[in-house]
Amino acid sequence: MRVIMLGPPGAGKGTQGERIAGRYGVPHISSGELFRDEVARQTEAGKTLQRYLDAGDLVPDDLVLSLIMDRVIAAEADGGYVLDGFPRTLPQAEAAAKVAREAKMSAQAVLYLEVPPQVLSARLADRGEGRADDAVQVARHRLEVFTEHTRPLLDYYTKRGIIVRIDASPPVDVVSAAIFAALDRIDG
Ligand code: AP5
Repeated sequence: MRVIMLGPPGAGKGTQGERIAGRYGVPHISSGELFRDEVARQTEAGKTLQRYLDAGDLVPDDLVLSLIMDRVIAAEADGGYVLDGFPRTLPQAEAAAKVAREAKMSAQAVLYLEVPPQVLSARLADRGEGRADDAVQVARHRLEVFTEHTRPLLDYYTKRGIIVRIDASPPVDVVSAAIFAALDRIDG
């Protein structure tokens, strides 16, 4: 299975990405988790990443690609992936599509998780994991960044015929069932 998760902050990309990875036996590659781990370990990259994460701004494409692409290539060599939070800009999408084409491992589906903004804000406020970027102002900014820079990927992938829209506002299990039904049709 080869899936890209697309959706605003709090849509459930991480929650559902893990479940998809478990069901289909492929790695779940989360750019946000990867970056938070670099920050926690205070690596050189982590020191640079921290200010983007804390502000809710996008990490520059070059840095994103240098940190994540090896994992994507390794997953492709291993047979599949769930990408969560990457690609997030058009240059990232083009870079990911190029390596996937070369490996004959292009994404089979891009799941677009749709949730109304007021539900997103409530989820982030309730998360309770102490993520600095869940503070109300920063969460609002992340949503604006999504709308400006990431939402355009909807058109990019729609033109490629691989978008699957999922209503991600119901409870987690209901959303998972809708996703699995869609992916089973593609994989079957
Ligand atoms: P990232 O970690 O990707 O954050 P995000 O996209 O803002 O998404 P979240 O992790 O907040 O939400 P999610 O959609 O994964 O939902 P989740 O399952 O956690 O990125 C963080 C930062 O890193 C970015 O701001 C940027 O700075 C940088 N970055 C990352 N990738 C980048 C890239 N490619 N390029 C440039 N910069 C990049 O769920 C949220 C909450 O809701 C949880 O508490 C969960 O339990 C709950 N929940 C989930 N589903 C449901 C449901 N159906 N019903 C009720 N509650 C639910």
